Amino acid sequence: MSPRLHRRRFLTLTAVVAGGAVTSSVAGCGIVRELGGNDEPGLVIRSAVPLPKPYQVPLPVPQILKPVRTDGTTDYYEITQRTATAEILPGLRTPLWTYNGTFPGPTLVSRAGRRTVVRHTNRLPQPVVVHLHGGHTPHDSDGYPGDLLFPVGTQADQAAAQSAMPGMAAMPGTVLVGSRDYVYPLDQRAATLWYHDHRMGFTGETVWRGLAGFHIVQDDEEQALPLPRGDRDIPIMITDRSFDANGAMPYPAVDDSFHTPGVTEQYMNGVLGDVILVNGAPSPVAKVSRLRYRLRVLNASNARRYRLVLDPPPPGGNGLVQIGSDGGLLDRPHAHDAIELASAERFDVVIDFARYPAGTRVRLRNTLGTGSTAEVMAFDIDSSKTALADDCRIPDQLSKSETFDKAGAAVTRTFLFQNAENGWTINGQMYDPAHPLATPRLGRLERWRFVTDLHHPIHLHLDHFQVLGRNGDGPGIYDAGWKDTIDLKPAEAAEILVRFTDHPGRYVFHCHNLEHEDMAMMGDFVVH
Ligand code: C2O
Ligand code: CU
Ligand code: CU
Repeated sequence: MSPRLHRRRFLTLTAVVAGGAVTSSVAGCGIVRELGGNDEPGLVIRSAVPLPKPYQVPLPVPQILKPVRTDGTTDYYEITQRTATAEILPGLRTPLWTYNGTFPGPTLVSRAGRRTVVRHTNRLPQPVVVHLHGGHTPHDSDGYPGDLLFPVGTQADQAAAQSAMPGMAAMPGTVLVGSRDYVYPLDQRAATLWYHDHRMGFTGETVWRGLAGFHIVQDDEEQALPLPRGDRDIPIMITDRSFDANGAMPYPAVDDSFHTPGVTEQYMNGVLGDVILVNGAPSPVAKVSRLRYRLRVLNASNARRYRLVLDPPPPGGNGLVQIGSDGGLLDRPHAHDAIELASAERFDVVIDFARYPAGTRVRLRNTLGTGSTAEVMAFDIDSSKTALADDCRIPDQLSKSETFDKAGAAVTRTFLFQNAENGWTINGQMYDPAHPLATPRLGRLERWRFVTDLHHPIHLHLDHFQVLGRNGDGPGIYDAGWKDTIDLKPAEAAEILVRFTDHPGRYVFHCHNLEHEDMAMMGDFVVH
């Protein structure tokens, strides 16, 4: 089928959706499956090297970054963005773009309410933008896609900054050269945040090359709970990548010189890899004891979705006990046999390896993948038979959050996410900062309705939200708690409640399938 015909049929489908007929019969029909795949958007780049055997390398855990100084209110950090190489596949050197030389970048750990200042210095060959995903951040430090930081020793090129989208008039933003201080008040709940590049039009490529890391926020409420900590509290960044014969990770950009954004036509629904990396290592293995472990699972893939299960499941099932989501702790734990994550989503889970016999190998498998993309990582449980006393447990009550009441919503806004002739649109518009899609008032509760044609994980900057429901029903089983990204299925309608607080200014919301985002499925909202 020709790409043009694809588009015709996208349009037919979305006409149905826009008309309000969002039914499961549409979602389940052949057209949707044929176009986007029910489970996997995008197209796989086939590696040109033999795929590594899974479970050969130990799970790396990114280094925790130390502040360069601290004072009464603030911790100061420095990160240099630079190229580096790493041996990801045995015997091959992979060129990367990195934060401080590693992929993932170093993990930052902050205390809620303590100001964190991160000075980023750009020694990469291209301008960058740093976004703290999930951060409740003033707009001038949020990583607005036009707030470019040009490399040390170069000239700020306002024109290049503004021409990232064909036909786009003026890209607002503050352009700097060399270094930029990002100031994060972190006046927010304990949560697993992450930072990544957000350059206008080129986020898919820069993240693919390695620009992503964790930023964990802790607070007193969470510290008081008897949850696993220290080396039993492990951040897990899942990405998929592919490798060419030299070990490089090819990315199908239309323009290697970074002038025209986007990927070649066949990849416009997302770039997928055929090797699963966890914390930058191919399907690694972690040694664990027969104790509870907390895994902060992040899907940092450009477009791939995962459905993760434990294999074998523990006797009686329910092996993945979710304690948190994007925006921190749930009120109560929620036990699952599987968790589903779209790009940018975080699931905080506790696994009790004491439920398995000593010496068991437990695999974390992706049931949406096949072959190499089904093998995420493994846990080798210590073979010693001595029973260990676990001083950690999962309390029935983890937190207590305000539940938004839809009756209090002052405005309802509807956003339609759909494919168009040249790219991806919201309400028929490709990204255009000259036309913000919403102007919410500070402190006011709003009801946002999202309608989609295909899979789109929708992400809002500035504040976390609560999912009100999907397709006229209540929230799905993965919608609990405070979210900043909601995974929308093909031909789905979902509603969220959100309140933007503290920080007026210009922010973005967008699809977090990075190829959709770069090809303009993004909008500004201006909080006033
Ligand atoms: Cu994780 Cu606007 O992005
Ligand atoms: Cu974000
Ligand atoms: Cu999308």
